[in-house]
Amino acid sequence: MVKATVCGAAGGIGQPLSLLLKLNPLITELSLYDVVNAIGVATDLSHIATPAQVTGFLPPDNGAEKALQGSDIVVIPAGVPRKPGMTRDDLFKVNAGICATLAQAIANACPKAFILVISNPVNSTVPVFAETLKKAGVYDPKRLLGVSHLDIVRASTFVATVIGNAADAPKYTIPVVGGHSGATILPLLSQSQPKIPDAILNDKSKRDALVNRIQFGGDEVVKAKDGAGSATLSMAQAGAEFADFVLQAAFGGKKVRTVQAYIDLGADAGGEAVKKEIGADLAYFSVNIELGPNGVEKILPIGSIDAAEKELLQAAVQELGPSIEKGTSFQPAKL
Ligand code: NAD
Ligand code: LMR
Repeated sequence: MVKATVCGAAGGIGQPLSLLLKLNPLITELSLYDVVNAIGVATDLSHIATPAQVTGFLPPDNGAEKALQGSDIVVIPAGVPRKPGMTRDDLFKVNAGICATLAQAIANACPKAFILVISNPVNSTVPVFAETLKKAGVYDPKRLLGVSHLDIVRASTFVATVIGNAADAPKYTIPVVGGHSGATILPLLSQSQPKIPDAILNDKSKRDALVNRIQFGGDEVVKAKDGAGSATLSMAQAGAEFADFVLQAAFGGKKVRTVQAYIDLGADAGGEAVKKEIGADLAYFSVNIELGPNGVEKILPIGSIDAAEKELLQAAVQELGPSIEKGTSFQPAKL
């Protein structure tokens, strides 16, 4: 029996994400929480003939904790999205409060759940979750995962496109480390499998354009949606795929491949080695991890990177420090 809860389930990401989780055969109970329309979305999804039993919850009568009670995994796309001209950081004021409130509800209702944070700015909201869980005395860094998987999905798509065969996107695996915002997004093109041809990798303008598209893919969608929000459908797919990695490792009995997620580097001894590799004492970083029954089983090295990536790493590290500090020092109004 596996219970999954989506917080922010009625939103642009929440609805398609909930649909994809309803289709996941490992989930037997799907709980949907939102401040609006969660009952409607749950009723709609409940007609689909898959094993997961769906229930919706709204805030009255302690709805958040009722929704979360006994959850094994909680996926969180709750909060406001960007409009053109905004940075992810502009969302912090509103979304940090929402994240702290949800973290407290998780601490009360399902302290052992895997927590997958989608709400932006991820570089800061993950530390907000960690601090709230620490205060509640239930923090387990192996179980808190900032979802940066959309950057990895985009990297495969954009690399295959530049190479000239977009349909090959699923064949490409490109690690993306650092964080989830602009210059903090560090695609390791030199580690691509299969390899990116030298004609692209060694051509500075082609390579810069590719890196820029991966780093600012979110802006591309915000601009195209022209005021109607940010990436929702691609994020739902990325979020459901990442949730499946976590579920497969914890409940599916499958050896899981290396993935990247934005996590507390204290989650495993390998985090200290990563700090040496990046030359900075950052508490959080999106890194290569192996998942297991308890979440983060191993933090793996970043590995060999080339000169262009070393330069990008410096920029990523510089921007990440203040974003982490912002999340760590956030004081919620009241919980
Ligand atoms: P949206 O406005 O369409 O949906 C957000 C939902 O959250 C709404 O239904 C809203 O009612 C709900 N909500 C608000 N406060 C809540 C609370 N306290 N408890 C529960 N639910 C609450 O927004 P969206 O497009 O779905 O984006 C959601 C978040 O995800 C944004 O912060 C966005 O920036 C972020 N995002 C992250 C990534 C990523 O790669 N990590 C990608 C895309 C979007
Ligand atoms: C994305 O990368 O698409 C998300 O973080 C949403 C955004 O604001 O760009």
